[in-house]
Formats: sequence, structure tokens, C-alpha cells
Amino acid sequence: MKDFSGKLAVVTGGGSGMGQELARQLVIQGCDVAICDVNQENMQQTIKICEAEGPQGIRITAHQCDVSNEQQVLRFKDEVIQQHDRDHINLLFNNAGIGGFFSFIKDTREEWEKTFNICWYGVYYCSRAFVPLLIASDEGHIINTSSINGFWASLGPDSTHTAYSAAKFAVKGFTEALINDFRLNAPHVKVSVVMPGHIGTSILDNTRTIMGAGDADSVDADRISELRQSLASKDANAANATDDEIRALLQKRADSFRDNAPTSAAQAAADIISGVQQDRWRILLGDDARALDRLVRETPEEAYEAAFYDRWGSEGGWK
Ligand SMILES: NC(=O)c1ccc[n+]([C@@H]2O[C@H](COP(=O)([O-])OP(=O)(O)OC[C@H]3O[C@@H](n4cnc5c(N)ncnc54)[C@H](O)[C@@H]3O)[C@@H](O)[C@H]2O)c1
Repeated sequence: MKDFSGKLAVVTGGGSGMGQELARQLVIQGCDVAICDVNQENMQQTIKICEAEGPQGIRITAHQCDVSNEQQVLRFKDEVIQQHDRDHINLLFNNAGIGGFFSFIKDTREEWEKTFNICWYGVYYCSRAFVPLLIASDEGHIINTSSINGFWASLGPDSTHTAYSAAKFAVKGFTEALINDFRLNAPHVKVSVVMPGHIGTSILDNTRTIMGAGDADSVDADRISELRQSLASKDANAANATDDEIRALLQKRADSFRDNAPTSAAQAAADIISGVQQDRWRILLGDDARALDRLVRETPEEAYEAAFYDRWGSEGGWK
């Protein structure tokens, strides 16, 4: 798909980060957009930006929807058809997601499954709901956001990451298998999987809110104590840090993740859109993602060893 003018795109997680940027850049190119999110306030911000920057006559709609809830996803689909007065869509960006460092062994089943359900079932339910509308178009494209954790199941030697990695591997496998499924059964619909490296967004803050921990100031005492223990294993001074100091550190990390990333959300969205225009099924975002992809292919058996983390640090710029 080279030209987005007059097309209709659905973007999940459109209230923030890459989803907000996708909406903004698509609208600028003349595309109508329907976004969904769990955060109403952020969606209104996206609408404001799109209305200010998009050409006259563009339709951008916001829909409150938790993508891990199939009933809400079906309601979202009905609202899109009705409010955009169309019987098809052209683009589906399954972008909504949260982070999550959850351990299969230590963390609660609820925490683990919440991350898995948003990151995997969100993609699955939205695909079930919207793929018939893509097939009903003359020209369609489904773009599913996985991660570098869709081909490398780690955040480094000191972190657990099982729920997110399991979900992102699932998204990648599903999307790659869809390539042939569409070729055989609906060849006018194209497929892409997006694998971002570190992108500067508020995903850490948003994840904390969605997991019910509120802002950094309201993280509960148990969590603070766990964080203190984990920090103390690397830095003995952290054992004496007060609750407020740990909370401040959490906020500093979230801010730094957003502000010191090698790739901005705007650049990431531009690369996704250009990947769609070039009909690339495999879209790696950022030099860090490309370096990791190469390293994992070169030395797959080493991928979870200390020397590999060091190599990615020196060759991929990973901190
Ligand atoms: N930022 C990164 O470094 C990075 C790296 C790899 C992959 N990703 C993936 O990219 C995608 C976009 O992330 P981002 O960095 O722009 O984060 P973000 O937090 O800025 O945006 C994600 C949006 O999804 C929304 N969302 C979360 N759960 C939802 C749900 N259940 N239903 C509907 N909306 C929901 C959030 O409210 C938020 O607005 C995610 O799938 C994420 O896993 C991000």
C-alpha cells in the first residue's frame, strides 16, 4: 500500500507512544483513523494532535476498549463500522501493549496473565474482529507489534521477563504464519511484524498504571521491598534506601527510558509506515534491534550467557 489517502486505519493503543505517532502520521497522509485505548485522557490528547495537524475533513475517532476483553473488542469493531460509515478497513495496527518483568516462578498468576493477555490476546481478539473487514477491502495490511523479545526472551541477566516474552514470541509466530495464510486465502491483504528495540515512550509509566500500581508515588510497600532487595543484590547501599528514594528511582528510570532512548516514537512510527509502503513483512526498529537480530542469529546457543550481554552492550549499544 503506497498511498494512505482516503483509507481507514485502526490503531490499538493509540493514546500514547508509537500508537499516538502512528495515528498522527497517518492522519497527516490523509488516512481516516480509529484508535482505541484504556486511557481516555491520552486518547483525547491524540485526537487533539491529529485534528490540529491533519488536513480538513479527516475523520479520527477514539474508542474506549481493553483489547484483552473480547466483548469490548467486538463493541469497538461495531463502533468503527458505524462511526466511519464503512464496510471495510484498510489497515490494522495491533500496537497496544504493556511491559512486564513478571516471573513465572515468583510473581502471581494474575500479574503474569494480565501481561500475557494484553500482549497476546489483544492481538488475537483484534485480528479475529477486524481481519474480515481487511478482507472486505480492495487493499489491506495487518501490522502486529511484537518486540525484540519476540526473538530473544530476555531483558538481561538480572531480570525475569517470561510473560511478555511468551506473548511477543506468540505475536511473531502468529504473524509470520499469517503471511502464507493470506497469500493462499486473501492475497490482497499483506502482513508485517514489527520488532522494536528501545523506543522512547512512556511504556513504563503506563504499565504501572495499568497494572494497578498507580504512579511511582503510590507503588505499594511489598513491591518497594522487592525492588530494594533486587537493587541491593547489585549495590549494597540500596539496602538502606528509604521507600521514597526507591520510588524516586523508579520514576527516574521511567523518565530515562522515555527520554534517553536511541529511537524516538516518531521515528519508530515513520519506519513502520515506510515498511508498510515497501511491503516489508519484517520491520526491525532501531539499530539496537538490528544488532540484536544479527547477534542472536550468529550465536544462538550463547544468547542467554554473560558474554552475549556484553557483546550486545558493545556492538548494539545496549545499556
Ligand atoms: N517502547 C519500547 O521500547 C518497546 C519495545 C518493544 C516493543 N514495544 C511494543 O510496542 C507497542 C507500543 O508500545 P509503546 O512503547 O508505544 O508504549 P505506550 O505505553 O506509550 O503505548 C501503549 C498504549 O497501549 C495502551 N494499552 C495498554 N494496554 C491496553 C489494553 N489492554 N487495551 C487497550 N490499550 C491498551 C496504553 O494505554 C498505551 O496508550 C507495545 O506493544 C509494546 O509492547 C515497545
